[in-house]
Amino acid sequence: MTTIVEIQGTDPLMSAVYALRREVFVIEQGIPEELEVDENDNVAGHLAALSDGHVIGTLRIVRHERTAKIGRMAVSAHSRKKGIGKELMEFAAAAASRDGAQEIILAAQFTAREFYRRLGYIEEGAVFDDAGIPHVMMRKKLRS
Ligand SMILES: CC(C)(COP(=O)(O)OP(=O)(O)OC[C@H]1O[C@@H](n2cnc3c(N)ncnc32)[C@H](O)[C@@H]1OP(=O)(O)O)[C@@H](O)C(=O)NCCC(=O)NCCS
Repeated sequence: MTTIVEIQGTDPLMSAVYALRREVFVIEQGIPEELEVDENDNVAGHLAALSDGHVIGTLRIVRHERTAKIGRMAVSAHSRKKGIGKELMEFAAAAASRDGAQEIILAAQFTAREFYRRLGYIEEGAVFDDAGIPHVMMRKKLRS
């Protein structure tokens, strides 16, 4: 069974969250290590999907007034295509809505845009490069 918990950047579980992000973004995708953790991690709310005490999925939510920005969405390679990413995104949308956000934005890796489309996110603007990976902005309005 998978449980999702909402934590802050100071939570002891964050070392496992950072380890998963490193495994996915730095080792698997080749994103420079120095870009992976940034100042937003201190102010973000982080979600961790736990299975048998292990962090197998994560994302972070950063608030900018009425907009919540989701980032660092990662599921460990052996746990993908089992609905964990979707569960994390739905949990994040509920948390953002509860906290008063009216919309969610995110920078989707181009190859992951279909994952977000299925969750109701709509692409906007041109494709852009971030850390050597093509991205596109996506947005979803939340029910108030
Ligand atoms: C993208 C990612 C988070 C998806 O997580 P996941 O747990 O495998 O996704 P889910 O199993 O919840 O998938 C939900 C739906 O999206 C689809 N989907 C998942 N990844 C997809 C992809 N890359 N392309 C197209 N569809 C995808 C699933 O088939 C599923 O469809 P369904 O609802 O019709 O069954 C995961 O593949 C991952 O961590 N990738 C590496 C890191 C990454 O690219 N992060 C995104 C950064 S923007």
